[in-house]
Amino acid sequence: MRGEIEVRTTPASQLSAWDTLRAHHQQMALVHMRDLFADDPGRFDRFSVAACGVFLDFSKNRIVDDTLTALLALAHEAQLAEWIERMFAGEKVNNTEDRAALHVALRYRSPGSFPSASHDVMPEVRDVLARMRRFADSVARGEWVGYTGKPVRAIVNIGIGGSDLGPAMVCRALSPYAQGGMKGYFVSNLDSTQLTGVLNELDPQTTLFIVASKTFTTQETLTNARSAREWLVAKAGEQAVSKHFAAVSTRPDRTSEFGIDPANVFEFWDWVGGRYSLWSAIGLSIATLIGMNRFEELLAGGHDMDQHFRSAPWSQNMPVLLGLLGIWYRDFFQAQTQVVLPYDYALRDFPDYLQQLEMESNGKRVSRAGEPLDYPTGAIIWGGPGNNGQHAFYQLMHQGTVLVPADFIVPMRSQYPLPGHEEAMLSNALAQAEALMRGRPEAAARAAAAAAGFLGERLEAHFPHRVLPGNQPTNTLVYERLTPRVLGALIALYEHKVFVQSVCWGINPFDQWGVELGKEMAAIILPELQGAEPVSGHDASTNGLIGYIKQHRGP
Ligand code: F6P
Repeated sequence: MRGEIEVRTTPASQLSAWDTLRAHHQQMALVHMRDLFADDPGRFDRFSVAACGVFLDFSKNRIVDDTLTALLALAHEAQLAEWIERMFAGEKVNNTEDRAALHVALRYRSPGSFPSASHDVMPEVRDVLARMRRFADSVARGEWVGYTGKPVRAIVNIGIGGSDLGPAMVCRALSPYAQGGMKGYFVSNLDSTQLTGVLNELDPQTTLFIVASKTFTTQETLTNARSAREWLVAKAGEQAVSKHFAAVSTRPDRTSEFGIDPANVFEFWDWVGGRYSLWSAIGLSIATLIGMNRFEELLAGGHDMDQHFRSAPWSQNMPVLLGLLGIWYRDFFQAQTQVVLPYDYALRDFPDYLQQLEMESNGKRVSRAGEPLDYPTGAIIWGGPGNNGQHAFYQLMHQGTVLVPADFIVPMRSQYPLPGHEEAMLSNALAQAEALMRGRPEAAARAAAAAAGFLGERLEAHFPHRVLPGNQPTNTLVYERLTPRVLGALIALYEHKVFVQSVCWGINPFDQWGVELGKEMAAIILPELQGAEPVSGHDASTNGLIGYIKQHRGP
């Protein structure tokens, strides 16, 4: 891989496009999308794009042509083109950890070497993919048998963060593709309620645990893996472990130390970030549940999006557009959040997955060079199934006081169609996006209240409750049906969106130093909770809580 990268020192706020955007925002702040649509019949055609099985309508945004021009100028000035090539070339774009971020190589589908990386990673990538195929096939065919000779019926992935959220989301999303009768479970939480609940459903004779951890030091994962191992050993003895435990890690030395048979260990590399790792052997649970061919279709979908990202003109480039629109709201409208609303029940975990992808990547406060930033970076990502949200949190989006840009994710066909469901679901998705954009102005609200029988003073007092300001921006992503390939493209779309934003903000999206302090402190508090001595080394609150818990919890 190529070495050191040059670190840009100019903050985004000192780029000339930033000034242009600031001034342009002054003009756009009060413009209503209702008027933009009324004045411009070509808006939908101009502000929509199709690629990789996904159609993106971004016309319901608070933008005009000049907005896009200025946002694209920002990307140019931030040297996005150069950064894209650096990432794909295997340069050490993760400068604070001195590493490349080459997840795109994991889903590279063409023959030959990974273009332009001076160290060709493809032989090791293909070798692990071949091992994953042998493993997944032998489990699916019933050739991999447990300690009593029975085939595996349940896979339990033990991991957390990127070693859990991606595989769990994909397995759920692609459950219609699950291979005959195989069940998948995901255990991540330190509270043993989760592991116990899962173990209670399982037969040790037919259960295979996959311990997934990049570092193989993560407390949650190792604690759960130890307890799962004890459960198995209590029922089947020590010799059963090699038939019931596999591991995925960049540290095979540590998996051996833990007692996992090296034949069952699948490797990946430090150039794969945890939250970008579902494409690597961390996807072993996916490959085992839906089969290796389907897993490779997922990779192909990711690769489709990589090619689009690298080659499409930016005005037609989905990750670039989504990234820049996010910056428009975050930095110029000061929107703190971004909601993700799947109208595909299969994607109900997608917002949780995106939360780690976006917030761990772009939740940064200093530039690549370590200088404090004077502008907002990553948004708070949240969301859930859109249809359920309509009956819960949408009220605040329609009539609350905050700007909430939304991504609607909409399949035209359900994975399990029943008469009447698909059209009803589609009508809700389209209606909500329209209502968020259009709102209900005063005159319409007054007319609706009058039609409902309100008169005179009661009408005056009542109609404001029926006013919806609208002007809430939405992107609508439409695809035919959720297949492995479409899902791969969707995931890669958001990965690259995050990268685009990081480049414009001048931050490193591939590290996560912020999560370390809590881990270090937990390591100090653990023995203090276990010991008998009073604790005084923290602030009064933490000392008090430790004391209270020790006193009331008993030995
Ligand atoms: O604590 C955060 C984190 O490091 C994530 O970045 C990562 O995905 C997760 O923990 C799990 O780490 P590992 O795969 O090393 O167990």
